Formats: sequence, C-alpha cells, structure tokens
Amino acid sequence: MENDHLAVLLLDWYDKEGRTLPWRTDPSPYHVWISEIMLQQTRVEAVKGYYERFLRALPDIESLAEASEDLYLKLWEGLGYYSRVRNLHKAACVIMEEHGGRMPETAAELRKLPGIGPYTSAAIASIAFGERIPAIDGNLLRVFARMTAWQENIKTPASASRAGDYFSSIMPADRPGDFNQALMDLGAMICLPGGLPRCEECPWAEACVARQQGIEKELPKMPPKAAKKIEDKTVFLIRSGSRIMIRKRPARGLLAGMYEFPSAAGHLDEKEAAAWLRSMGIEAVRIRKLPEARHVFTHKEWHMTGYEVMADELSARIPGKGIFPAETEAIRLQYPVPSAYAVYKETAGIGR
Ligand code: ADE
Repeated sequence: MENDHLAVLLLDWYDKEGRTLPWRTDPSPYHVWISEIMLQQTRVEAVKGYYERFLRALPDIESLAEASEDLYLKLWEGLGYYSRVRNLHKAACVIMEEHGGRMPETAAELRKLPGIGPYTSAAIASIAFGERIPAIDGNLLRVFARMTAWQENIKTPASASRAGDYFSSIMPADRPGDFNQALMDLGAMICLPGGLPRCEECPWAEACVARQQGIEKELPKMPPKAAKKIEDKTVFLIRSGSRIMIRKRPARGLLAGMYEFPSAAGHLDEKEAAAWLRSMGIEAVRIRKLPEARHVFTHKEWHMTGYEVMADELSARIPGKGIFPAETEAIRLQYPVPSAYAVYKETAGIGR
C-alpha cells in the first residue's frame, strides 16, 4: 500500500475516532509539554485530573519556574516518577533565563532541556510547532512491530531507529502532530498489547504484515524482565495529639525531596519497634500493629509492615534525625507524600 494512502487512512480514522483530550483542545507549547511529561509513564485517564489541577496552580512557564519544591511535588503527588516534575521545574528556569520565557521551537533545541528526550522533544515539536518528526513511544513501537512483522527485541535503540525511519516515510508534511497523536490513539485503542488487538477496527489492517502472517499477538518481542530488588521496611505512624511525625527524604535518589513517615529497615516485631522508637528519643504510650503493604517501583519493591504509635507529648517534641511533627491537615494539603505509603496515609486520615 502507498505511504500517502496509509497517511490518509490513519488521519481519516483519527478525525472520526480520535480522543478528545484536554491538551488537544488548546495545544499551546506549555500545555503540550506538561501533558507529554505527565503521559510518559501514566495512563491518559489518570493524567486528566492532574493536568487540570497543575495548570490551575501553575498556568505558565513563569509560574512553574517560580514554584516551590513542596508545591510542584504536591501537584505531582500520586503520579510517581517525581524526577519528571523536578526536571519540568529545572527546564522552566532554563527557559526563563536563557530563552526569554519562550519554549524553543525545534526538537533539536527542545532536547537540550532537562527531562526532554527524543520522544518528548518530537511530541512537542510536532504537536505544538508542526515539525515533521515521529514521536516514538511504546504505542508507536508496537504499531511498527506489527505493521512490519519486526522480530527483534523492541526495546533497543536499533528498533526505535527503524521505527523512526518507518513512520518518517509515511508521515505527511501537513498535520505531523495529528499523525503522531493518531498513532498514539491507534496504539491505545486498537493495536492493543498482548492478545488484545482489535484488528477488525484498524484503519491499517490491510497493510499489516503481522496480521497477514497471523502473528500480531506475538509482537512486539519484549526482552525478559529483570527481577526487582525487595526492601523490607517498618513504617511508623507516630501520633502526638493531632499531629503526626514526618521527615523529608534526601535531595537525591528515589522519591527525592518528598516527605514520608519515619521507617526502619527490616520487619521489626513489637519489641524491636519499641527499641527503635526509644533510639529516636520517642517514648511510646501505646503501640498498635498496622496492616502490611507493598509498593512496586521500576527497579525495586517495598514490602512494608507498620505500627501506629501514640507518643508521649514531651518526647514527641524532640525526635532526632530530621523527624518533625506536622498537623494532619498540613500533610494533606501541603506536604507531598508519595503513594507508596497509601495504606498508611489512609490510616493517618490523609488518604487521597
Ligand atoms: N500519550 C502520550 N502523549 C499522548 C497524547 N498527546 N495523546 C494521547 N496519548 C498520549
């Protein structure tokens, strides 16, 4: 099938079936940027609410550049991969200082900004500025693998590069942003992963080589998953009156700069828990076991157990190691606490 014809089929399908999404209604460069960063590791449905709230609080590049760490992390609370919003903030500062407050307009320039890689630079450049460049994400890779019956490991730079060549040869000169977003929708709605592709509804079905060979469900070829490291932790919900103890995580590494309930390594029994509390200078008046909880990150898993502790009022004022008491309401409204602690946030009355 002619490439021009493929482009027409896809864009016609997009005009009828494409999703109406908040960032498509008003695709200013800032809006596209924020949405693309949010959408990198997060599903469209989960992003919508965060997107609206983020833009209400920080409506432009300048307000993002001036936002405090606690504010931008709080706006990202629950989305995960928090380095994304740290980089957004850093990039906003660079745009204010070095680009007169205006987003650079080419993929090559955009890629120089913190947190903007090949995918995001291409997405912004095509959608907001009309540059003819494919934005290769997981959806496009899957479509590429099936359309061409690509048998190699899909998660290699070589596969991404071939996918780029493939879509560049089909992408029309007009509507490059719509072309990319049509492919994202095709991947999200029709060319679904695993055994679920809906080929009967696909505008490209007739040209799909994997379908002709009956192997669409076997593609793309994924590398084996690496085992995750497991970390055992004991989380403490230490209460003193209406306040709960929290601490700020280090400025680098996992969940950098976020706040959390104090915790100790390993699964402590009640006696060990009491000893740990004493080592922190906290006198426990009462201790109650909390449920176990797990949280899965990209490279590790936390296996948590917990205790709720009523602390003696006096000792609760002087805990060491960066631990401090905060009002429950302040934690709910101001302090960013990651959803790895969702079960314990719920117990503390600060659940989302
Ligand atoms: N995923 C990433 N970017 C997207 C977009 N612009 N529209 C829909 N899904 C997406």
